[in-house]
Amino acid sequence: MTAMLELNGVSRRFEKKLDGVERLARRLGADLRETCVNAVDTASFTVARGEVVGLVGESGCGKSTLGRMVAGLLPVSDGEIRFEGIDITDARSARAREKRLRIQMIFQDPMSSLNPRMKVADIIGEAAVYHGLTNRQSVADYVDQLLEKVGLDRAFAQRYPHQMSGGQRQRIGIARALAVKPEFLICDESIAALDVSIQAQVINLFQDLRRDLDLTYLFISHDLGVVEHIADRVVVMYLGRIVEVAPTEALFDGPRHPYTQALLDQVPRLGAGRQVFRTVKGEIPSPLNPPPGCHFHPRCPMAGPRCRRDVPRRITEGDHSTACHLHDGGTE
Ligand SMILES: Nc1ncnc2c1ncn2[C@@H]1O[C@H](COP(=O)(O)OP(=O)(O)O)[C@@H](O)[C@H]1O
Ligand code: SF4
Ligand SMILES: [Mg+2]
Repeated sequence: MTAMLELNGVSRRFEKKLDGVERLARRLGADLRETCVNAVDTASFTVARGEVVGLVGESGCGKSTLGRMVAGLLPVSDGEIRFEGIDITDARSARAREKRLRIQMIFQDPMSSLNPRMKVADIIGEAAVYHGLTNRQSVADYVDQLLEKVGLDRAFAQRYPHQMSGGQRQRIGIARALAVKPEFLICDESIAALDVSIQAQVINLFQDLRRDLDLTYLFISHDLGVVEHIADRVVVMYLGRIVEVAPTEALFDGPRHPYTQALLDQVPRLGAGRQVFRTVKGEIPSPLNPPPGCHFHPRCPMAGPRCRRDVPRRITEGDHSTACHLHDGGTE
């Protein structure tokens, strides 16, 4: 069976060029170099049709960069992205463009992703008309149906973004994404900015939509409790690299990578309510100058000499894969 989404060794580098003053300072002898961040480093995983895959990791580990590459909003530096077997790595090719429409992204902050001068009717209807999913005559009905799908009254069509609450705006963002009939949604911290009570409602909406519209999700979140609740499988990232991939239950019951273990150790489990990342002991190293070998070694209680030298391979046992020398011959 082909996966719906497949990433093969996908990387994204950001180069930071020196500005005029820095170039001059370098000419005068300052030790300044152009820097490069490996925001995403050879990421490989698949998402099956109908699945919800959670993507977790501390701030700055590359989650949004990865999501934006899948959505075609950011070019890939290396590697390959396939959707339903079609290579969509180059977002500009005609076939990729057609497939990309099936992939939509829902952002964290609906206020900044909605045009404040447009009415909801136009925000939702515009792309649908442009892509021929409805026409000028029927667009009002089309918008009404979408508002109903996301649990809003049709009167909202005449409102502007500032006339709504955060939760209502996020529902508009979801309706706008649904307007082009996507099959795959990337939710990037889509509930993080909302009040806790509203978060639960929006999560329920995502689950209802999954059932009613056969949607598949890549669900990016720093909130482990939410991911445990909604995801079928979880991908854990650390400093641009995927360190563990496993079914949700297996990951939460028996995390294998020391980083995942540290993350879960910080989380009060069972009935304690919110499960948000606390800081794992030790500072996150600078992504501009990551530690050699296993990026996690300065914070890892199990680190040995090999960890400072060799990049761990990802070893798969059954449906659980881990990139740690402990699972691949030891750390000596
Ligand atoms: N447009 C950009 N230009 C330069 N660096 C970037 C850009 N976007 C992200 N980065 C860097 O890439 C790394 C990963 O960022 P991001 O994908 O936003 O992480 P996350 O979503 O997990 O918090 C960070 O070090 C960030 O500073
Ligand atoms: S490879 Fe070594 S440093 Fe990295 S997580 Fe495993 S034991 Fe820790
Ligand atoms: Mg992010």
